[in-house]
Amino acid sequence: MQTSTAQALTGRKILLGVTGGIGAYKAAELVRAFKREGAQVSVVMTRSATHFITPLTLETLSQNPVGLDMFSLTEERTIGHIDRAAWADVFVVAPATANYLGKAANGIADDLLTTITLAIRCPVVLAPAMNSRMWSHPAVVANLAELKSRGAVVVPPGEGELACGEVGPGRLAETEIILAGVRNALAHGDLTGIRVLVTAGPTREPIDPVRFISNRSTGRMGYAIAEAAVSRGAEVTLVTGPVSLPEPPVRIVQRVSTAHEMLEGVKKALPDCDWLIMAAAVGDFRPSRPSGQKIKKDSRDGISLNLERNPDILKEIGPLKGGRLFAGFAAETEDLIRNAEKKIREKGLDLIVANDVSAAGSGFESDENQATLIDRDGGTADLERMPKRVMADRILDKVLSLWKGR
Ligand code: CTP
Repeated sequence: MQTSTAQALTGRKILLGVTGGIGAYKAAELVRAFKREGAQVSVVMTRSATHFITPLTLETLSQNPVGLDMFSLTEERTIGHIDRAAWADVFVVAPATANYLGKAANGIADDLLTTITLAIRCPVVLAPAMNSRMWSHPAVVANLAELKSRGAVVVPPGEGELACGEVGPGRLAETEIILAGVRNALAHGDLTGIRVLVTAGPTREPIDPVRFISNRSTGRMGYAIAEAAVSRGAEVTLVTGPVSLPEPPVRIVQRVSTAHEMLEGVKKALPDCDWLIMAAAVGDFRPSRPSGQKIKKDSRDGISLNLERNPDILKEIGPLKGGRLFAGFAAETEDLIRNAEKKIREKGLDLIVANDVSAAGSGFESDENQATLIDRDGGTADLERMPKRVMADRILDKVLSLWKGR
């Protein structure tokens, strides 16, 4: 079985389709990244793509002839379109324009790339890039849904300022994120049959009907883990605190608010799960006596809140662990490793992701994270700063290897 590790691309044959959008210039970086990971790369471009990046650039970087024309005698004699399709272990189209997605979804084959698309039998990875308004058009949404239903791995575009000056989703995903999608496609569902319970987001502890105590968690790390596990074939249950993120395509979502509700959610889902990944930032304290009515400020100079301890979810469910694998996070601002090692012992974990939440560009409210993985045997691995979606796969790789070695 292929596992989704950083070595997953060594020796693999990647056929890269490049279509005509501004993101085509990033194909050069993508080819270099594939080569750096030890893959063989062959590129096919549409005519429109050549307006944004030259075939010579991609030919030089890939060290292979670039395919351009369906009816080029020399090209077809050296490598025919069927041979190119049969050669590939994985077919990646980045950027994939709305035009390409429309043709691929409808079986139109009017150039070399779309003809190859019909002959492909290996895993397919699509990294769309386009203007946000095109991205949300029902035709594009329907075409993508169709391609996904046929098994394509879709690496959604990033959000931010687009080449046209508008702001929104549409720009080609970061190279690292496309690489993660390619590894997943090659991993062929290495988590198939594994049932994963993920908790995510903050909890809210009410002070009165309109106020609460919470924390800075956005849920992004937990949601990235849930999404990565689904795309690798796991059956995922997500118990989530209040966040404003799109729901990942998991089997069951339980929405909770307080730490007590999260504990109940975890207890309910645990019997049907093999792994628990506690990425939620659970509030440790709650107001002892939340007011039933909104607290008025009249004639008060200030108020004091009496807080009491919330249950520690991992400790509470420890006795129910059985043969399951438990992973947690350690959010620390000092003594990262020492505190994380204490938590792995006290909470009976197999793995802890130690997070310095005070470091810039890491932890809460960031798209990226940086962490140290510490396992039950004391093994450590430093994960450099990377997008949370990429880190999600690295965490799952580690959990899977601990699961196999149990
Ligand atoms: N956790 C939990 N129940 C809590 C608090 C935390 O299950 N009441 C889990 C978290 O989901 C995480 C791990 O325990 O996986 C460590 O959480 P963290 O906030 O780092 O530590 P705490 O246990 O809350 O300890 P402290 O706040 O003292 O650092």
